[in-house]
Amino acid sequence: MATESTPLPTFQQLLSLPPSLDRQKLPRHVAVIMDGNGRWARQKGLPRIVGHRQGTETLKELLRCCKDWGIPALTVYAFSTENWQRPREEVNFLMLLFETVLGQELAQLIQEDVRIQFIGSLSDLPPSLREQIQRAMTLTKDNQSLLFTVATNYGGRQELVQACQRIAMEVQCGNLTVDEINGQLVERYLYTSGLPDPDLLIRTSGEMRISNFLLWQLAYSEIYVTSTLWPDFDRGQFYRALLAYQQRERRFGKL
Ligand code: FPP
Repeated sequence: MATESTPLPTFQQLLSLPPSLDRQKLPRHVAVIMDGNGRWARQKGLPRIVGHRQGTETLKELLRCCKDWGIPALTVYAFSTENWQRPREEVNFLMLLFETVLGQELAQLIQEDVRIQFIGSLSDLPPSLREQIQRAMTLTKDNQSLLFTVATNYGGRQELVQACQRIAMEVQCGNLTVDEINGQLVERYLYTSGLPDPDLLIRTSGEMRISNFLLWQLAYSEIYVTSTLWPDFDRGQFYRALLAYQQRERRFGKL
């Protein structure tokens, strides 16, 4: 069983897929709840925003790692519908951080053949961030190496409610009958339409919660929780998560 004390491959071995991981059994889609930025900063006597900045560096490195190791889809929870309740300065900082990072990293995403998409209730985001998001999604839409999905102002319940509303509208207009509503159809109305469900959900900082993330899509995902705070989640930690995932037996409700 892989644990938080499982020995790590050398730095050199972590640059490409470590030999102890089975390429054939890699998750096709990894979802991450990046938690613990605030605690990481507090432990160092620094303002919370420094934790978010360091968390961004961690995310950039994880993205690179997914590309290097051949994981084709990564989805991260950057801002939940509940995060608006944080102090205004922190919310403003996060919005500005998303916009700045997107502006700074766009050329690199294009060069590395990464497609970026944002999911969530995007119309409530500041207009300048929305423009930057639109630009990034348009300019990377044909990229193939990695699909990077950022959940921003995202809530799983809100996603299901909007799907229900849109389906009901189709029924009301006579484009659909009630009998035609099934799981496959519901999936087409989710923000993640076209993406396979996550095989693996990683949550950092030790909390054992889903926190309204991808409620439908995580139905059969393997969950890996580590006490490591997000800014400290490096390639070695990711290796341990993948090793634990590969040691699980996935039954999808069957025997
Ligand atoms: C949770 O830690 C983290 C967040 C709410 C923000 C995550 C955002 C990033 C890592 C930046 C991503 C950047 C882009 C461009 C997508 P917390 O603040 O809840 O930590 P705590 O639980 O220790 O307080």
